[in-house]
Amino acid sequence: MEKKPFYITTPIYYPSDKLHIGHTYCTVATDAIARYKRLCGYDVMFLTGTDEHGQKIEEKAKAAGVTPQEFVDRIVTGEKGVLDLWKLMNISNDRFIRTTDDYHVESIQKIFRKMYEKGDIYKGAYKGKYCTPCESFWTESQLVDGKCPDCGREVHDAEEEAYFFRLSKYAKPVQELLESGTFLEPASRVNEMINNFIKPGLEDLCVSRTSFTWGIPVDFDPGHVVYVWVDALFNYCSALGFLNEKYDDYDRYWPAAHHIVGKEIVRFHSIIWPAMLMSMEMPLPQKVYGHGWLVIDGGKMSKSKGNVVDPYVLADKFGVDALRFFLLRTFPFGSDGNFSNELLISTINTDLANDLGNLVSRTTAMVEKYFGGTLPAERESEALDEELVGMIRSTKERYAKQMDAFQLHVALEEVFKLIQRANKYIDETAPWVLAKDEGKKARLATVMYNLLEALRVALVMLTPFMPASCEKAFAQIGAEGEAITWDKAGEYGVLPATVSVHKGETLFPRIDAAKMLVELEEAEKAARGPQVKLNPVLPDVTIDEFAKCDMRVCKVLACEAVKKSEKLLKFQLDDGSGTPRQILSGIHKFYEPEQLVGKTVVAILNLPSRKMMGQESNGMLLSAVREVDGKEELHLLMLDDSVPAGAQLC
Ligand code: ME8
Ligand code: MG
Repeated sequence: MEKKPFYITTPIYYPSDKLHIGHTYCTVATDAIARYKRLCGYDVMFLTGTDEHGQKIEEKAKAAGVTPQEFVDRIVTGEKGVLDLWKLMNISNDRFIRTTDDYHVESIQKIFRKMYEKGDIYKGAYKGKYCTPCESFWTESQLVDGKCPDCGREVHDAEEEAYFFRLSKYAKPVQELLESGTFLEPASRVNEMINNFIKPGLEDLCVSRTSFTWGIPVDFDPGHVVYVWVDALFNYCSALGFLNEKYDDYDRYWPAAHHIVGKEIVRFHSIIWPAMLMSMEMPLPQKVYGHGWLVIDGGKMSKSKGNVVDPYVLADKFGVDALRFFLLRTFPFGSDGNFSNELLISTINTDLANDLGNLVSRTTAMVEKYFGGTLPAERESEALDEELVGMIRSTKERYAKQMDAFQLHVALEEVFKLIQRANKYIDETAPWVLAKDEGKKARLATVMYNLLEALRVALVMLTPFMPASCEKAFAQIGAEGEAITWDKAGEYGVLPATVSVHKGETLFPRIDAAKMLVELEEAEKAARGPQVKLNPVLPDVTIDEFAKCDMRVCKVLACEAVKKSEKLLKFQLDDGSGTPRQILSGIHKFYEPEQLVGKTVVAILNLPSRKMMGQESNGMLLSAVREVDGKEELHLLMLDDSVPAGAQLC
């Protein structure tokens, strides 16, 4: 039978900072859907990528002293970059697009020209409020308390000659699209879009920029670069070969498109995107699904707040599958979810170590203990079995309904009802009692078989969430081949009657919460790197004021600790005058005297002479200081030994 196409995308990520657990959430969710659809027999195209243009990237690159391309390369392909992260998280994307790829640039230029030639893009002048981090122009009425409605940061007045897209022309068909069916989900987002954006009146959208250069040039009007959102949204089509020669999958996959996006970019995907597609006379995607955010203490994760959670740390401590599972099991996909390490640990302990892990280890251990690992063929059923067997047969349908609606957490809830029912079945049937009675062998074998069957179907349904662990678990319960297919996930009696188990490693070890929380804090701190605090630059001084400081190169002739002082070192210095100069300096915490003899240092000579611990100090040595992780760090300023004593700094 010919497989049906299914096209699913994540947003393409801004490589402006390293990705955090929020981005990971979005990609893992999309991966679970893609894997589920493959399991069901669809021909899946799963796309993710990076959105590499725009002013924000240009500014960050400048601050880092590299070209924008070098800057994004480092975050996308560099160590622990985007590609590494998706590999680690076992993301099964079929394609990865970078908007700096040549074929994408080619498509965007053709698309822009096409809308221009049609008259849907025209030249005008833009005046508005611009939010640089969000790359968004806003009208006065859209601002919230005078700030960017998306991120709450300051906006500034901006004006430039620009091209505009006739978004207003498409207001009506877009509203109809949103109201008519299931294009945008969850349904709550539809009202939000209509009330907040369409009803107040859709204005034409500014789609080119002249104030910076890091973007795709408008090929018929150099000096203009294409607005980053036009560039970004069409990635979903250029990645399939639309208006480029790189790929040839557009006709097959585009009509089957599903976009998973975070709630703050629903506006772009459910209003601007369909309007531009209408202008291009292209088919519309099947669905835009707006998921919620992972928040911390109710607020968004952000680098400036210093509360971003590093997925590398979590994957290392808990394992990739446990992390994937946690993200999708815990938080309703359409709503915000409050992330915490405590919740992560308790979810893993409850669902994976206790419920699932125990079911696998108890069942395989009992089959080994009572039957040497292989069940006999004899069976003896009881009425007590019916509920469990019924759930083995019926869970698939309920699960599929939820998965098809992207209700991932509810789908998992259905699987865990089955797992919990199977654990209860162990208590009800008390296999350890049956095992004592020779006459109950057939009954005991039936109980074991039913548990293995429950595990088999549960694991098939967990595969999209925890692919590697399910593979191991299948081997432990002796399930393989057809038995682990989607087709057989709603049937009972699929494992061979004389199935053999292979007790293996513990799949999900129990976590010691108190110990782990301490470890996590240390690991997060190490991953964040040292927190350096620099003092703000002091108020200006005039050049004349500065020139009054007489700073000279000195050679350390002798150095010793000052008795009864923890801090002070006493230096005899050659300042070029021929007479040794004595200076005291409070740097004993950082240096031993013998380390400094013979070094070339810098001193201010024309400070008033003063006494410390009864000793005279004529000047001050210069050091470089900063605060790292709350501690002062000091480097005595030392020069190349070729610099002569007495030379004056100016
Ligand atoms: O928006 N919780 O890129 P992006 C959940 N380049 N999801 C989160 C999150 C969090 N804490 N933080 C970020 C862009 N995300 C554009 C997309 S698509 C044509 C262009 C999600 O890197 C966010 O909601 O800022 C978005 O869906 C995705 O990560 C990429 O965010
Ligand atoms: Mg964003």
